[in-house]
Amino acid sequence: MDASTFRRMWDELLPVGRTENGYVRHSWTDADQSCRNWFRGQAEARDMAVETDRNGNLYAWWGPRRSRGAILTGSHFDSVPHGGAYDGPLGIVSAFLAVDALRERDATLQRPIGIAAFTEEEGGRFGVPCLGTRLMTGALDPDRARKLTDASGITLAEAMEAAGVDPGGLGPDPERLERLGAFVELHIEQGRALEADGDAVGVASAIWPHGRWRLTFTGEGNHAGTTLFADRRDPMLTFAFAVLAARKEARLAGGLATVGRVEVDPGATNAIAKRVDAWLDARAPDEATLNEIVSGLESKVGERAARDGTGFTSRAGSESPLVGFDEDLRDRVAALLGGAPVLPTGAGHDAGVLAAHVPTAMLFVRNETGVSHAPAETADDADCAAGVDALAAVLGDLAC
Ligand code: GLV
Ligand code: MN
Ligand code: MN
Ligand code: MN
Repeated sequence: MDASTFRRMWDELLPVGRTENGYVRHSWTDADQSCRNWFRGQAEARDMAVETDRNGNLYAWWGPRRSRGAILTGSHFDSVPHGGAYDGPLGIVSAFLAVDALRERDATLQRPIGIAAFTEEEGGRFGVPCLGTRLMTGALDPDRARKLTDASGITLAEAMEAAGVDPGGLGPDPERLERLGAFVELHIEQGRALEADGDAVGVASAIWPHGRWRLTFTGEGNHAGTTLFADRRDPMLTFAFAVLAARKEARLAGGLATVGRVEVDPGATNAIAKRVDAWLDARAPDEATLNEIVSGLESKVGERAARDGTGFTSRAGSESPLVGFDEDLRDRVAALLGGAPVLPTGAGHDAGVLAAHVPTAMLFVRNETGVSHAPAETADDADCAAGVDALAAVLGDLAC
């Protein structure tokens, strides 16, 4: 496919959710609805049947969707707060273009091909990543999901109702999973491994285990100008120690740890805080290492809190186990793509959740700078077009 064909379709979606500082495309917001409407329009233009499942995931089907062995592709529209354009939407745009490419070749379907737009992959609004696929696979309790709140205190149930979708149906969807023969997600690479190797497209081998923890630090709010150091119980100090300790524990163990979000109460310049809530993201090549990082951090911060006279608690928010993608499918895809490189990633994906239930593969498209989850995220049009060709080859091999 030529790069200009990719660009034409890409440009249609680009304005949706764009702000002066990157993308804000959270689930069940107006931007999300615009993305869903765009998706419906693309499906209808191709005579593909549109369907929304009980968990709000959206599908476009080429071929009879109820038959078994369907090949599903796609990704997600939602972004992290002020994220990039590519993480997610690239997999959906590429899927429609891959369907076009197969039809131009007069490919005959042996099994249906579906394109999915999964709900809230980033956890950017309600805090739990891969919300749509976790609900579908039964990995997330629907009662817990309905009560999840966003930053303004709106629950998932309320947000879905406001968007005209019934939250009462949330929950496992085993029949749907049973009908799937394979899932293949195309995604921008979130690192520079392909750039270093000089390849436009790669295949995923594994996703590192990862998780989110909510760290809460409590102390005593007081006056910044009159409270002697000796009299303070300042949770900000313990929090600052925790940020450094997270990095140290992860670096020593060979993993990664990030504190990218923090809320300070009351958040005044001239007042000692009374409470700090921080969100830890930790990842590692294996589960033992991940546990070592988090438990090491918790015990060191606990000791520090005792010295600071502050309170400290750590609560797991979501945990994602190690994912090894289906080896037969991975090898078949890599061979089909002429020996494409096979690489692991530290980023989570709906493909990681589905991999426990359906043979799943991922394709990565080169990201020259490696930047992701930030406005500067970008990929070359020619590489995206190469990604479409690769996805069309894979879908053709599996479904035609
Ligand atoms: C999702 O993109 C994640 O890895 O956090
Ligand atoms: Mn992401
Ligand atoms: Mn993504
Ligand atoms: Mn992701």
